[in-house]
Amino acid sequence: MNKGQFIVIEGLEGAGKSTALETLKECLTKQGIDFIATREPGGTPLAEQLRDILKHYQDEAITAQSELLLMYAARSQLVENVIKPALNQGKWVLGDRHDLSSRAYQGGGRQISMDTLNQLRDLTLGNFRPALTLYLDIDPVKGLARAKARGQLDRIEQQQLDFFKRARAVYLDEVTRNPQCIKIDAGQSLDDVQQSIRKIVTNFLHKPSYDY
Ligand SMILES: Nc1ncnc2c1ncn2[C@@H]1O[C@H](COP(=O)(O)OP(=O)(O)O)[C@@H](O)[C@H]1O
Ligand SMILES: [Mg+2]
Repeated sequence: MNKGQFIVIEGLEGAGKSTALETLKECLTKQGIDFIATREPGGTPLAEQLRDILKHYQDEAITAQSELLLMYAARSQLVENVIKPALNQGKWVLGDRHDLSSRAYQGGGRQISMDTLNQLRDLTLGNFRPALTLYLDIDPVKGLARAKARGQLDRIEQQQLDFFKRARAVYLDEVTRNPQCIKIDAGQSLDDVQQSIRKIVTNFLHKPSYDY
């Protein structure tokens, strides 16, 4: 049996990732493809506990280094215990965020060096990579306004605008370096975003890469 494919959706708060995930699910369901959906941080019992800490812990300041390590701890649990087993069973995996989020948020936002991020990526993921990443690009002012309209902001969503501007700059830089990563203008209407996603997924279904 062919291995499944790992497709990731990335972007800032309020970019429309969770909304896009639903569109992706529809596309795969129509094709009769068996899939699971995951989110990061989270997706296993331990990783969900780490998610809760990362988003809501108030009792003491979380250092940038601890935040980084907790993110990678959660990622390791998810990749080894859920994502790889699913792919090996031929299921596709749709990820709401993955490693690129750490490069953007902990690298760009928290200004941790790319050397450190590369080392942690090597340690945690080896050469495991998504086959396709859809990056939903949004002006952080617009994204945060959408996120605020959705409800109370969590610990990370409460960072200053500059944090998100730096995160966006990393996302944009990574998109230019990685042909597996496709940028979608998430400032468009929901209809237009959905249409872009369907087009990209249709192309991918015709020509997926099996080389991760
Ligand atoms: N293209 C869009 N235009 C306008 N509103 C959108 C668009 N995409 C998503 N939204 C809305 O913005 C909010 C945040 O979207 P969501 O998918 O939860 O973002 P994320 O998961 O990236 O934080 C939701 O209320 C959603 O309905
Ligand atoms: Mg979401």
